[in-house]
Amino acid sequence: MNLESMRPLFRKVLLVLLGLLLLAQFIQPDRAVPAIDPARDMLSVTNAPPDIRQLVVGTCYDCHSYATEYPWYAYVAPMSFIVQDHINEGREHLNFSLWDTYAGSEEAGEAGEELQEGEMPPGYYRLMHGHARLTDTDKQKLVTWFNANLGGEGGGAGGNGTEGEEEEAD
Ligand code: HEC
Repeated sequence: MNLESMRPLFRKVLLVLLGLLLLAQFIQPDRAVPAIDPARDMLSVTNAPPDIRQLVVGTCYDCHSYATEYPWYAYVAPMSFIVQDHINEGREHLNFSLWDTYAGSEEAGEAGEELQEGEMPPGYYRLMHGHARLTDTDKQKLVTWFNANLGGEGGGAGGNGTEGEEEEAD
């Protein structure tokens, strides 16, 4: 193959890839969720004050509840699949819309710690969402509230006594 024949081939490959990318837009991930029942929602059940509600919704609810707000790029393949994957995995670990199921779980108890250590919300999410970049004051306020209400290090309602297991590796 010489240089002369490579350029048309390169253009062809590029066109095919572009065509595939366009076609991919017609395939969308499954974003369907069940109706949200306030009686099963963590913020309702714990009667969280408005400032805490705003912080939790703005930093965790996109991935850890059924009340996800999708950014525009979440509709563009291949990002659509990556975003939905994070959401599905997040909900699997901890779903604040199904608090009757997740209250007292090990994951719920780790919420404060994950936030404190900067593990959650994930870095890529903080990069894309200004509302998830908390000030030190807001972050500390939320960590304290998580620990007191979701059974974290500070103990409190909803804990299930798994604090001793926190040394385990990720
Ligand atoms: C961009 C989506 C996203 C956001 C936003 C997010 N999480 Fe997560 N979260 C995940 C994913 C994905 C996992 C599972 C994989 C992992 O542990 O990294 C997870 C796991 C967790 C776990 C379980 C950790 C473990 O090791 O089992 C906890 C607790 C958690 N998140 C708490 C939070 C809290 C609290 C917030 C808000 C301050 C939050 N997350 C925001 C996606 C998210």
